[in-house]
Amino acid sequence: SLHLTVTVSCFTALKRDPLAKSVDKYLHQLQLSDQTLMDLSIRFRREMDKGLCRDTNPTAAIKMLPTFVRSTPDGTEQGEFLSLDLGGSNFRVLLVRVMADGEQKVEMESQIYAIPEHLMRGSGSELFDHIADCLSNFLEKMGIKDKKLPLGFTFSFPCQQTKLDESVLVSWTKGFKASGVEGQDVVSLLRKSIKKRGDFDIDIVAVVNDTVGTMMTCGYDDHHCEIGLIVGTGTNACYMEQMRNLELLDGDEGRMCVNTEWGAFGDDGALEDLRTDIDREIDAGSLNPGKQLFEKMISGMYMGELVRLILVRMAKEHLLFQGKTTAELLTTGSFNTKCIYAIENKEGLTSAEQVLRGLGLDPSVEDCIATQRVCQIVSTRAAHLCAATLAAVLRQVRDNKAAEKLRTTIGVDGSVYKNHPEFSRRLHKMVRRLVPDCDVRFLQSQDGSGKGAAMVTAVAYRLAAQHVE
Ligand code: GLC
Repeated sequence: SLHLTVTVSCFTALKRDPLAKSVDKYLHQLQLSDQTLMDLSIRFRREMDKGLCRDTNPTAAIKMLPTFVRSTPDGTEQGEFLSLDLGGSNFRVLLVRVMADGEQKVEMESQIYAIPEHLMRGSGSELFDHIADCLSNFLEKMGIKDKKLPLGFTFSFPCQQTKLDESVLVSWTKGFKASGVEGQDVVSLLRKSIKKRGDFDIDIVAVVNDTVGTMMTCGYDDHHCEIGLIVGTGTNACYMEQMRNLELLDGDEGRMCVNTEWGAFGDDGALEDLRTDIDREIDAGSLNPGKQLFEKMISGMYMGELVRLILVRMAKEHLLFQGKTTAELLTTGSFNTKCIYAIENKEGLTSAEQVLRGLGLDPSVEDCIATQRVCQIVSTRAAHLCAATLAAVLRQVRDNKAAEKLRTTIGVDGSVYKNHPEFSRRLHKMVRRLVPDCDVRFLQSQDGSGKGAAMVTAVAYRLAAQHVE
């Protein structure tokens, strides 16, 4: 395309420049070769094993959490369900109608509610009171306050589950840090907040991770879907594992969905050779230092900040902006991940100029080109890191089936995957390079995580009904 040619030729021109050479050298550590990615993929597969085995699980960085979701939708589910979606870019309440009359159909209404920062990082009971408050408001609006509907709760954090409706928060991740919730069952906390109000009643049936919700939503449309992937505020994946490999649970029959919590890859030091000074700086300034180190190299919550920190360093070393920095450029969070989407778009250089001017800078053309290059390199690294871990999951699924060639579908959701102009293409391409013997379909879910909790609830209801019969 024209855009590409222009960028490439500008960049080649820039490369001749001694200044630009040092720019490229600067970013060298962030560009990972196929060989490095393959090694990483193999390393991650071993980490998955460590999480699955009973003896090594307690010290494993990759927790491989059982989800108690044992089957994907078969299309015969039906009913009316509520769902809550907490942990992504928005908090949402949904009413989902699943119809099974011959034609599979799902209808839904939803409402986004704000969660103020002081509640994300305040006391847990206030957070859950607020959630109950929003739920009450939604039921009122829909005119269904007197119905006791089944509810699925998408709670996108690592949780230790013992059954579908009991889910103990292991640790907060991303932007949340409410007190008194870690180590507690979030279903009990929500029930308590609802009971305290006394103005409505609901039946909490299931707690699911957003990866699981996404897999289930996509699984309703494509029965081959057995992997769920999120690249949004955070990043993570789940997949259907053989019960015989899940040593933490009794029973060898059938399959269960496992939430890998791959964002924690490297928390035991396994990624130190790939982490850069910038990655260490992001981590040091985060809400959870030392935790979710892989996630911090990839997801939307950190990607813009990674770029900003690089720009600051380059400016300080007189590689950009004639050595000038501004108060805005030096402010944490001032370079939003959304800026990267714009800068890597067709009108990218114009966007780069706008963004940099917005930060009080007076950029030259070279500054804009270099900034675009920084964005490309940071977001490409993110896509390639995801490809490496995803390739490991695909090999696991393939080996479980003893299939020479795996045909499978990955359900995907998340703001980075959906809104970055190049991320998905780069991810797909690298996955196909790393596992050429897998025939993979990527299916972007529509309203995945919220609808998915309703699907899990619907499947649970269908199975419960079958047991009664
Ligand atoms: C974080 C959470 C994980 C979630 C992911 C995507 O990594 O720990 O549970 O799936 O973000 O939202």
